Amino acid sequence: MKKILVCISGASTAGLGIKLYNLIPPEYERYLVISEHAKVVLEKEENIFINDDISAPPASGSFGIDITFIVPCSMNTLAKISVGIADNLITRAASVAIKEKKKLILAPREMPFSEIHLEHMLKLSRLQNVIIAPPIFGYYNKPKNINDIEMFLIGKWFDLAGIENNLFKRWQ
Ligand SMILES: Cc1cc2nc3c(=O)[nH]c(=O)nc-3n(C[C@H](O)[C@H](O)[C@H](O)COP(=O)(O)O)c2cc1C
Repeated sequence: MKKILVCISGASTAGLGIKLYNLIPPEYERYLVISEHAKVVLEKEENIFINDDISAPPASGSFGIDITFIVPCSMNTLAKISVGIADNLITRAASVAIKEKKKLILAPREMPFSEIHLEHMLKLSRLQNVIIAPPIFGYYNKPKNINDIEMFLIGKWFDLAGIENNLFKRWQ
């Protein structure tokens, strides 16, 4: 069974990360890490690790996480990942994904992005296994409400991870 790790750092769309986690199909083994700042808005669920617990299983490459999502990814977490800081479970899991060449999908959330943010994104995007996929939506699938927008975003992130889904209307 493939293992998926979803990390939620303290950016404003933290609820999206929880929805993404809940929509992962049952054929995957799923794990969740939330940062201190994300905790304020989130409830605890099965397989949730505390971000301070640097000894939790996803901190080790031998645990074998196949796909890591950081949704949303704060600029703080993005910067740490970009320079190799691994001071909590989320940044350590990102560092593990990078060194093990496993898929790492980052959803940086800020508006606007500074040159520093963009430099971090460019640097990470140049690593073959890292995908920068911010929570940016379009009008072409005619969203009627926030749920439609969220399902579009999660569907796109699942596509990037190779997770089959019908969460959004595809362009015909
Ligand atoms: C309500 C709220 C919304 C925030 N939204 C964002 C955001 O969208 N993007 C971001 O980079 N930081 C945002 N921040 C700031 C981060 O939470 C802060 O930089 C924090 O240190 C991130 O820690 P973490 O990366 O360990 O989660 C927000 C903070 C609060 C309180």
